[in-house]
Amino acid sequence: MERKGIILAGGQGTRLHPSTISVSKQLMPVFDKPMIYYPLSVLMTAGIKDILIITTPHDQNAFKHLLQDGKRWGINIEYAVQPSPDGLAQALIIAEGFLNGAPSALILGDNLFFGIPFTQSILKANQRKNGATIFGYEVKNPSDYGVVGFDGNGNVKSIIEKPLTPASNYAVTGLYFYDKYASKYAKQVKPSMRGELEITALNEIYLKAGQLNVELLKSGTTWLDTGTHRSLLQAAQFVSVIEERQGKRICCPEVIAYENKWINRTQLANLAKSLEISGYGKYLFKVLARRQT
Ligand code: DAU
Repeated sequence: MERKGIILAGGQGTRLHPSTISVSKQLMPVFDKPMIYYPLSVLMTAGIKDILIITTPHDQNAFKHLLQDGKRWGINIEYAVQPSPDGLAQALIIAEGFLNGAPSALILGDNLFFGIPFTQSILKANQRKNGATIFGYEVKNPSDYGVVGFDGNGNVKSIIEKPLTPASNYAVTGLYFYDKYASKYAKQVKPSMRGELEITALNEIYLKAGQLNVELLKSGTTWLDTGTHRSLLQAAQFVSVIEERQGKRICCPEVIAYENKWINRTQLANLAKSLEISGYGKYLFKVLARRQT
């Protein structure tokens, strides 16, 4: 069965209030496109075409307005709600019917990844049929994240959520590849001290079963989260610098769909036309002009 994707885009965005009182955080722009385009691009780059978007009940319509059913990008997008932010692992329970026994890739709607080495890592993770794959990324503030601990041979020994004394500088990123058992295991997770079904607890189940792969993301990969005004601004600056320098836009679902041959030139031209007035639409025309097939 083909792997299906889940984007978890709920939560209250309280750290970004008042900006996110009436607009979902994951719809806020990161430079030239809505935040959710970035995780969506990750799933599409991994070759995943069936995607469930989980939002708060009151934000769902805004996401549907933006992303529709995905057909214009050659993918299938479905929607579900998370009534309250009860933890990341709950996404796998909410998604159980959508997954219908398929393996999954869960990504947080506020995580931004970029880089060729990253693409290679996710393509590899997508090939793996059994167990789970999570990604470690070296940061200077590991205590803000789930953290991976290693034994003397470099094997993963522990994952601890926001440890006061982190076992390493490797944070667990918000991208998780699971086999078909994830929904079943997620139901075994008990709420943590903060009352959430922690994704770390789900990953620990895989770890204890000897079924957890941890890929350390190579240098050349960028991983940013966008949970605070400062980190949101930094993410926007990062995208702006890369795009200015290369004259290319990154993480455009339309371009990935075209590169994956999920849409043809005519379809891309129509998408470009619908956005003609904006620089984004002009860029899509540029992509068409640059490539002849
Ligand atoms: O960003 C990676 C980190 O994400 C991991 O290293 C941690 O292990 C993981 O627990 C998570 O930590 P955070 O503290 O960043 O999670 P946060 O509660 O901020 O939620 C992350 C995003 O998911 C945020 O955009 C809100 C959304 N969310 C959160 C919860 C708890 C939901 O949509 N539903 C939820 O129930």
